[in-house]
Amino acid sequence: MDKIEIFGGKRIKGRVKLSGSKNATLPIMAATLLTDEPCIIENVPQLSDVYTMAKLLTALGKEVKFEDHTLTIKARSNKSFSAPYKLVRTMRASFCVLGPLLAKRKKAKVSLPGGCVIGVRPVDLHLKGLNCLGANIKISGGYCYANPKKLEGKEVFLGGPFGSSVLATANVMMAATLAKGETIIDFSACEPEVVDLARVLKKMGAEISGEGTPQIRIKGKKSLGGFKHRVIPDRIEAGTFMVFSLVTGGEIEIEEISPQFLGAAIDTLRRMGQKVLVKGFKIYVKRTSEILPANIVTLPFPGFPTDLQAQFMVLLSLAKGVSTVTEKVYPDRFMHIPELNRMGAKISRFREVAIIEGIDKFSPAEVMASDLRASASLVAAGLSASGKTTVYRVYHLDRGYENLVEKLERLGAELRRRKE
Ligand code: EPZ
Repeated sequence: MDKIEIFGGKRIKGRVKLSGSKNATLPIMAATLLTDEPCIIENVPQLSDVYTMAKLLTALGKEVKFEDHTLTIKARSNKSFSAPYKLVRTMRASFCVLGPLLAKRKKAKVSLPGGCVIGVRPVDLHLKGLNCLGANIKISGGYCYANPKKLEGKEVFLGGPFGSSVLATANVMMAATLAKGETIIDFSACEPEVVDLARVLKKMGAEISGEGTPQIRIKGKKSLGGFKHRVIPDRIEAGTFMVFSLVTGGEIEIEEISPQFLGAAIDTLRRMGQKVLVKGFKIYVKRTSEILPANIVTLPFPGFPTDLQAQFMVLLSLAKGVSTVTEKVYPDRFMHIPELNRMGAKISRFREVAIIEGIDKFSPAEVMASDLRASASLVAAGLSASGKTTVYRVYHLDRGYENLVEKLERLGAELRRRKE
């Protein structure tokens, strides 16, 4: 396993070019199962999760080529229909091959994904939606089995106790594209990544309206064609780099990102007294003298993204005063708190609420990454602390941040990646 050694205290400043969005790429890769025609996906980030999904598509009979950020996916055979536990367990987004398999091959054996460190991660909404279309999914031995004669469009409410579900919306939307008749998804997820998937499905010939709103309508078709698509930039990477620069007293310009993707994060930074300029598809942020405390509540899009919660907790730790973070999406997503406290943070937690007392500065330490976004928050604290911070188990970072060390070095950070 690798570690990252950070010699913090240097200002992070300059211009960063974002990679393509991991969370847009993964469902779009699954959508290739809806057609036998070739599909080309551009601006794909070189991340371990993408390689895992490529492996799964290969096991499902696709020929996958990944060259210089472009995926070319062709049909080889349609015989297989099984997504094994060892793959789904490592990357739960694999579960969104279920909808396309049911729609195109009318047969699926997909492992339940199980939980992870950020929470239980149930899939009841996925199953509710697909069963509503007639999938008749049976669960046995940790697997979902189904071989429906056909899928029929229906109206289904996909909201759960934590609001909308991104991948359940993706799964049902994909299945509905080949179902007979119209499907209406109520309380659908509005994330930009769901909109990007809908864009791809429409390029394939699907008839979809309402994407980006809490009601999506899909009129089923007999078949879908191939596509060529450039994935949207990664808004979570953008928000993460904003925090990297602000916690070091720096300034950063992010190109080619729609500011609407980050409305809640931008609003929060302004409430924290930080300078944020938005011009066209560019966002510029600059640290000001004092960081003001704030209260953040994570919510489904367009609310504050849960995937930026851990990173913003580092910034809140440097505010003058007491802040709170209420995690309404994954109430247990606080694995980063003990490690940040080992770096001098003063964060306490009661159920889904974290209370953050401002400190002057972080102290360098050896810390352990636990999940993708928690690891990014430890890197942020390490960049801010003067001295050497070592982050272990950085394979978590490789799941969601492409060339992180190189990108940070280009912005003035001093860090290196080494074998543990
Ligand atoms: C997607 O996961 C993202 N992953 C997550 O990003 C992100 O944190 C999450 O959406 C929320 O924005 C990908 O897109 C690959 P959900 P997803 O279904 O779709 C509950 C990262 O760091 N729920 O929107 O799996 C669930 O427990 C990752 O890049 C049910 O109750 O998340 C959670 O509380 C982490 N039943 C809430 O809904 C279900 O059937 C939102 O989860 C499904 C979800």
